[in-house]
Amino acid sequence: MSWIGLKELMEKPEISAEEVEEALGRAARLVTGNLPEFTKRFPKAYSENGFYEATENVDWTTGFWTGEVWLAYEHTGNKELLEAGKIQMESFLERIENQRDVETHDLGFLYSPSCVAGYKLTGSKVGRQAALMAARELTGRFHEKGQFIQAWGPLDAPDNYRLIIDCLLNLPLLYWASEETGEEEYREIAEKHIHTALANVVREDFSTWHTFFFDRETGAPDHGATCQGYRDGSAWARGQAWGVYGTAIGYRYTKRQEYIPLFEGVTDYFLKHLPEDLVPFWDLEFGDGDDEPKDSSSASIAACGMLEMAKYLDGEQAKYYRGIAKRLVKALADHYAVKNPAVSNGLVLHSTYSNHSPYNTCNHYGVDECNIWGDYFYMEALTRLNKDWKVYW
Ligand code: GLY
Repeated sequence: MSWIGLKELMEKPEISAEEVEEALGRAARLVTGNLPEFTKRFPKAYSENGFYEATENVDWTTGFWTGEVWLAYEHTGNKELLEAGKIQMESFLERIENQRDVETHDLGFLYSPSCVAGYKLTGSKVGRQAALMAARELTGRFHEKGQFIQAWGPLDAPDNYRLIIDCLLNLPLLYWASEETGEEEYREIAEKHIHTALANVVREDFSTWHTFFFDRETGAPDHGATCQGYRDGSAWARGQAWGVYGTAIGYRYTKRQEYIPLFEGVTDYFLKHLPEDLVPFWDLEFGDGDDEPKDSSSASIAACGMLEMAKYLDGEQAKYYRGIAKRLVKALADHYAVKNPAVSNGLVLHSTYSNHSPYNTCNHYGVDECNIWGDYFYMEALTRLNKDWKVYW
């Protein structure tokens, strides 16, 4: 197995402004074409044989679809997309009001790209109310003793006193709620969680733990473990990508200087474990020559993280990360993006949700398929490259 070297990576072509425009236009057309099926209902988290089924507003992933609708609306101004976004925000309000499938930290993934975005773009009162209710719900998952937001399951579950790296993307919802209401508690909880997470999930070599357990009695850090990665000591590709974007978000909101080297280290580890075509295998342990599936969503997430962090870095460094993001997005647009709706009703092929290995506890689904967050972050990366984007996060 082998990975691309940094020199070879830098020799890869960057996506041009024209190619960004073309890829984003194509994505927006595909999203618009899917509105008849996915306005009152939502695409499932992952496709099967390339096609998403329609589901109710359940699971942690439906916000990404509404996020795609908003990104397509921003790009085209098409009123059909605006109307669909409004209908979907009503669904998110109904979901939080009825407490349906909200016992999770993923309220940020659900409500930032759907309702915060809709509020920012249209001033929607429905979006604002739904997102504020979701933020309030999320604060209820904060453990004072351990200083973190519990990821999964009931708060008293004996085997789930842990955070996961993905949660860093849930925290902008709390910062937004704090700004919107003037209540400091949201921001304080977000900041405490960021600090606990970043102090524990990043290993010495800048690879990352997917999940990290704490001692329920004392709140002290206990041990890291994987759930969706290949094995405990490996770096799950999407977890590492959440780390790239998560450290950028940590810096964006706290401006703590010590998060800059964390971002650099976590990103460098990710880049050093890319295969020749720049789209990672599902776990960074694997490289060219391994017969393992890819996780294209990781490339999009990491590209968004680099584009976010580039905003706070100076000249050469900003150019470096923007340049790498452009290379990753070109690889996706040229070789992974859906061009023909007869092939798939998603946007990006070859992603992996949950792959079983001999060492993890995962189910096996959404392997080598489209994943709805992969589609969303691909569009977000293109949008970031296309204009000075007002972030949803
Ligand atoms: N946040 C769950 C995942 O990335 O699969």
